[in-house]
Amino acid sequence: MVKKVAVVTGANRGIGYQVARQLLYDFPGDVIVTGRNTAKGQRACQQLKAQGLKPVWHELDVTQSASIRMFVDFIRENYGGIDVLVNNAGTVFDKDSPLSMYRQAELTIQTNFKGTLNLCRYFMPLLRPHSRVVVVSSELGKLSSLGKELRKTIDLDKVTMYELDKLADKYLAAVQAKVWSDYGWPDRILESVSVLENALVYALARDLKNDQRRNIIVNACCPGWTATEQMQTHLDEKGCLGGVEARSPAEAAADIVRLALLPYGTSSPNGDTVYKREIINIRD
Ligand SMILES: NC(=O)c1ccc[n+]([C@@H]2O[C@H](COP(=O)([O-])OP(=O)(O)OC[C@H]3O[C@@H](n4cnc5c(N)ncnc54)[C@H](OP(=O)(O)O)[C@@H]3O)[C@@H](O)[C@H]2O)c1
Repeated sequence: MVKKVAVVTGANRGIGYQVARQLLYDFPGDVIVTGRNTAKGQRACQQLKAQGLKPVWHELDVTQSASIRMFVDFIRENYGGIDVLVNNAGTVFDKDSPLSMYRQAELTIQTNFKGTLNLCRYFMPLLRPHSRVVVVSSELGKLSSLGKELRKTIDLDKVTMYELDKLADKYLAAVQAKVWSDYGWPDRILESVSVLENALVYALARDLKNDQRRNIIVNACCPGWTATEQMQTHLDEKGCLGGVEARSPAEAAADIVRLALLPYGTSSPNGDTVYKREIINIRD
């Protein structure tokens, strides 16, 4: 009997912790809590165990190929495949972070975009029929937020993972040279990185539609502004950002878990960016 398995990255705190917690209640198989720091991850697992849950811990730094390879080997040897992959690991900086814009962009690209891309690439052959992949991203990542010329370089019907990876490098080079807006990139790092992530999700789903393994569904989920520890410096005294009240991590996680547990045979959403259960048109 094949044992089902769900993996959550960056699950030691914030939204990822809540995603793992909710999957531990609702997913019929093992839930692997992963993170880059073993002490923090084991602490999170202790908290989950104290609630009567049975998480499995494994270290995974999504920016390190060796760490990804070791983790993929662990899944292959112990489960033979994967049923749910939630790419949640990401960077959130304090509002007054002393890091330069370049350093923040670099860390965000490495973790949120390249980390997700590499993990998906390594897990691609292990995805079982009916598996679900979710990328935690943002609905801010719309192609319309790019300049006209840059927009033309992302044809969603053809763009490849490799091309998106190269585009991410070009974005970083533009930020380093302080000319990102000349090249059509938005000012907000989250916006630029989410465009790449949402396009990646579209491309993955598009390619998997013709795969002989049936019904593999890939979506991006925007958690909305969420009051995690890291976000506190961005929120006003009413817990709002730009007039929008931040959600609780559990509330944001529920939307992600819904996509991770879409029933067999689901055809939509697929390749989409979903925010509060609505499909966002990322082309416009
Ligand atoms: N909160 C929001 O309002 C908001 C809005 C839009 C999108 N998002 C996205 O939602 C996701 C979760 O955000 P959050 O607010 O829960 O953030 P968070 O509380 O800062 O949690 C981020 C998690 O990612 C982990 N992580 C960072 N770098 C990693 C790496 N190289 N390898 C593996 N894990 C790594 C962190 O581990 P450590 O504990 O070791 O640092 C932590 O567990 C992120 O992708 C973020 O970009 C959040």
